[in-house]
Amino acid sequence: MTKLFINIKELIQVRDVTIKKVSGKEMNNLPTIKNAFLLIDNELIKSFGTMEELQDFDVDQTIDCTDKMILPSWCDSHTHIVYAGNREQEFIDRINGLSYEEIAENGGGILNSAKKLQETSEDDLYKQSLKRVKEVINLGTGALEIKSGYGLTIDSELKMLRVINRLKKNLPIPIRATFLGAHAIPNEFKKDKDGYLDLIINQMLPRISEDRLADFIDVFCEIGYFNLKDTQRILAAGKKYGLISKVHVNQFNSIGGVKVSVNNDALTVDHLEVLTDDDLKSLKNSKTMPVALPTCSYFLSIPYTPARKIIDSDLPLAIATDYNPGSSPSGNMNFVVATACIKMKMTPEEAINAATINGAFAMNLSNEVGSISIGKLANFFITKEIPSYGFIPYNFGDSVIDTVYLNGQETGN
Ligand code: NIG
Ligand code: FE
Repeated sequence: MTKLFINIKELIQVRDVTIKKVSGKEMNNLPTIKNAFLLIDNELIKSFGTMEELQDFDVDQTIDCTDKMILPSWCDSHTHIVYAGNREQEFIDRINGLSYEEIAENGGGILNSAKKLQETSEDDLYKQSLKRVKEVINLGTGALEIKSGYGLTIDSELKMLRVINRLKKNLPIPIRATFLGAHAIPNEFKKDKDGYLDLIINQMLPRISEDRLADFIDVFCEIGYFNLKDTQRILAAGKKYGLISKVHVNQFNSIGGVKVSVNNDALTVDHLEVLTDDDLKSLKNSKTMPVALPTCSYFLSIPYTPARKIIDSDLPLAIATDYNPGSSPSGNMNFVVATACIKMKMTPEEAINAATINGAFAMNLSNEVGSISIGKLANFFITKEIPSYGFIPYNFGDSVIDTVYLNGQETGN
């Protein structure tokens, strides 16, 4: 089945398929074609160009996009979208003066979500998560990373990862699974953190590998959670099972996690709200992509990742939602793009690059998604009638999305 989209006001993020990521000044360049056409063949992008270049194709369907734009789907490379229940009471506690760290110290936070998840059946967890994934698909997300880390026991971590894999099978977008057993120290191991690390390394990892349940491995490297030595142990153990690392670092403190991650060939380091010159130095000349999570900063009222410093140091940057019940209960990539512009002083071009091509790189999905390129998946959205792509972050409270296409099919869920 071939579909031809014509009279596209502006076709955004058109790239040669060989471009895998953009860094530094290149991030401010967003290649587009005005008054364009786009041809897709089944699930793949076949051709595109200006309307003047359009040849007489024999197609099954023609869609007129007059006054509308087309963008590649958002690539959300960091989420915890599989979780049970919510934590709105902690949100209220924070309004009343408690900090995120204080709530965690009192048994709330990640351990609160772990308790809820342990008590939730696998089917119920799947249903709750499926609803959220469908919602973010309607908001334009066309590729997604999902972490475990609210299980914290063998059974519950495996349950989470099986749910992620069920979503992978049943949903029309590429999904990548990340094992985050080292997300918090369970109460039973409060006085025996090494015992919990042994459990992760000697019992969880072999089972996860045997059942092929994860693509990546993650650690929450932070004071009060996992230190540098723990992080090194987990990342090295993951590597033995072929898991590439994507690491939570520098959310509240810079303790050297960036360097350890880079030394372990991490694909990404995520958060980076606190970033020192030494951290920046480690990232330079590395293949590791920094990932900022602007809506986590927004929701927790913590500093924003210094995007300008990162981009002006000639580094790449991806942005993602961090969708989770504690620090970012939203999977809205449109709002992430807007917040990156409004609060982190990224230009619309930089933010869109960070949310598409660099987001795809941050999930090892560069060959499939992240740009309008021949041979990539036809995962994109048509906007409503908008004056310019800068209107997307400008109009921050509303979705500009008119229609979503995934694998060449219009979605309607
Ligand atoms: O990325 N920082 C660690 N993990 C999550 C939050 C987890 C939670 O509060 O449930 C994050 O912000
Ligand atoms: Fe996170």
